[in-house]
Amino acid sequence: MIEFQSVADVRRWVRAAREASRRVALVPTMGYLHEGHLSLVDEARRRADAVLMSVFVNPLQFGPTEDLSRYPRDLPRDRALAAGRGVDALFVPAVDTMYPPGSEIRVVPGPTAERWEGAARPGHFTGVLTVVAKLFHLVEPDIATFGRKDIQQAVLIRQMVRDLDWPLEIVVVPTVREPDGLALSSRNAYLDPASRRQALVLSGSLRAAHEAFARGERRAAGIAAAMRRVLEQEPAVPVDYVAIAEPVALTPVDVVDQHTVVAIAARVGGTRLIDNIILGQGLA
Ligand code: PAF
Repeated sequence: MIEFQSVADVRRWVRAAREASRRVALVPTMGYLHEGHLSLVDEARRRADAVLMSVFVNPLQFGPTEDLSRYPRDLPRDRALAAGRGVDALFVPAVDTMYPPGSEIRVVPGPTAERWEGAARPGHFTGVLTVVAKLFHLVEPDIATFGRKDIQQAVLIRQMVRDLDWPLEIVVVPTVREPDGLALSSRNAYLDPASRRQALVLSGSLRAAHEAFARGERRAAGIAAAMRRVLEQEPAVPVDYVAIAEPVALTPVDVVDQHTVVAIAARVGGTRLIDNIILGQGLA
């Protein structure tokens, strides 16, 4: 695996890959890799010949009181995991490389970014779309892979690609979970043993949503009630939102079907966690 810090080196590598008629996949990450990120690599390798992973903790997507300074980082471990899974090139830019002094243009999303994560984290999706747009310009990938755990992010990136006429395919990869159901997240590193136990209420409530759907419940209110019964068992975990929405633009629905997204965000200990399912698929 080759590693770059500079934009010029990335461009050179991409040009060489193109000259060799190789399909290029981009796997954008903020590092502290886990099996969820590595499943993005697996999918990228299935669909392309050359895989570039970026590792960049993007300051633009963190609010002023959020966890930018303590966000977990372990580049030596990331290198080993990425290389072991078949990443061909690792791009690890410095903040000044991505945002040189004077850089001020941003990619501003539309109303889909205003609810849920966008409401809780003002400016977050502007930061995400700006860095992803920059990576798309630098790498000009044929495909890019993103995790379904951040479903609102994935929907917004799809919208950006569509609205800005980008010739690339966005592939959204299912969430990877611990055996007990907890969705993998770099922020799980913040959980102490008690919080780790409490965090199961998120996936537990989603399981309850799926079970209610499997029993024939088709009212969003009925699905939300099934989730509430589980969430009430863990009063120490304040729920930020439960969203029940269609999967394309995340418009809330009153009547659900197998494609409906059910998403939750809650605060466990000091850590904000998110998770979601597609109703017809459950925690799979
Ligand atoms: O999902 C993430 O890890 C980040 O939001 C992303 C897409 C790498 C942009 O910084």
